[in-house]
Amino acid sequence: MTMDATRQRFLMCRPTYFAVDYAINPWMDPTAPVDADLAVRQWERLRQVYLDLGHTVEEIAPVPGLPDMVFAANGGTVIDGKAMAVQFRDPQRADEAPAYRAWFEAAGFEMYDPKHVNEGEGDVLLAGGHLLAGTGFRTAHASHAQLQEVFGYPVITMQLVDPRFYHLDTALSVLDERTVAYLPEAFSPGSQAVLRRLFPDAVHATMADAEVLGLNAVSDGRHVVLPEQATGLAAKLRDRGYETIGVDLSELRRAGGGPKCCTLRLRQGKANR
Ligand code: ARG
Repeated sequence: MTMDATRQRFLMCRPTYFAVDYAINPWMDPTAPVDADLAVRQWERLRQVYLDLGHTVEEIAPVPGLPDMVFAANGGTVIDGKAMAVQFRDPQRADEAPAYRAWFEAAGFEMYDPKHVNEGEGDVLLAGGHLLAGTGFRTAHASHAQLQEVFGYPVITMQLVDPRFYHLDTALSVLDERTVAYLPEAFSPGSQAVLRRLFPDAVHATMADAEVLGLNAVSDGRHVVLPEQATGLAAKLRDRGYETIGVDLSELRRAGGGPKCCTLRLRQGKANR
């Protein structure tokens, strides 16, 4: 089997103002100290990994007072040159939405505004011609219909059931056109059945891998960038022929985020890049 890497264009946000000042998921403990400089160094290494793989990384300017803005995956959903802006569940993150929206607009994407809570690529993943859309904690089920209308891909609702895996991208990772990896127990029984139907060859992750946010991985179809602590998952992926690249984002994990959370895929703008 030959596995081809596709060049990607990513949007990232430097964690200059990273902090854990509030708790909106079970990973966040505002009483524990956070090393923002370490977070920046870990983030810079992730960015360098992408550049070394030949991907393009665009940067949005971080805004003081928005400590979670580093999680660019929550800034929007960008497919076929269309960008759907986001609406956060929690007021602490609300002001990130217009900042990302302005960036997409300036970059020339066709803009759509959300009518319901929608946390972007954190909960919306394009896989095998379907949009897998998470709900249960953040993105509202009602927004799934709008996603289908805007992007014109069949939307498959994925019901998340474990609060530690509150965004779809913490429980499922798209590896290529045909394959995903996921933690079955993070999904309702019905969603598990749907995943088995859609992806009979999927890689099943263990709780040990998911607990280090191993599924919060970024794949270009050949190379998979994932938390280095997810050793079991990395071994399974290598068995399937992927090249794995481990990164340490331990400091950002204190906010409940990993490599994918820090990375928004930009699928074609006006420049058609
Ligand atoms: N602290 C952030 C939140 O709870 C983390 C977001 C992680 N992003 C993601 N795409 N899973 O909203």
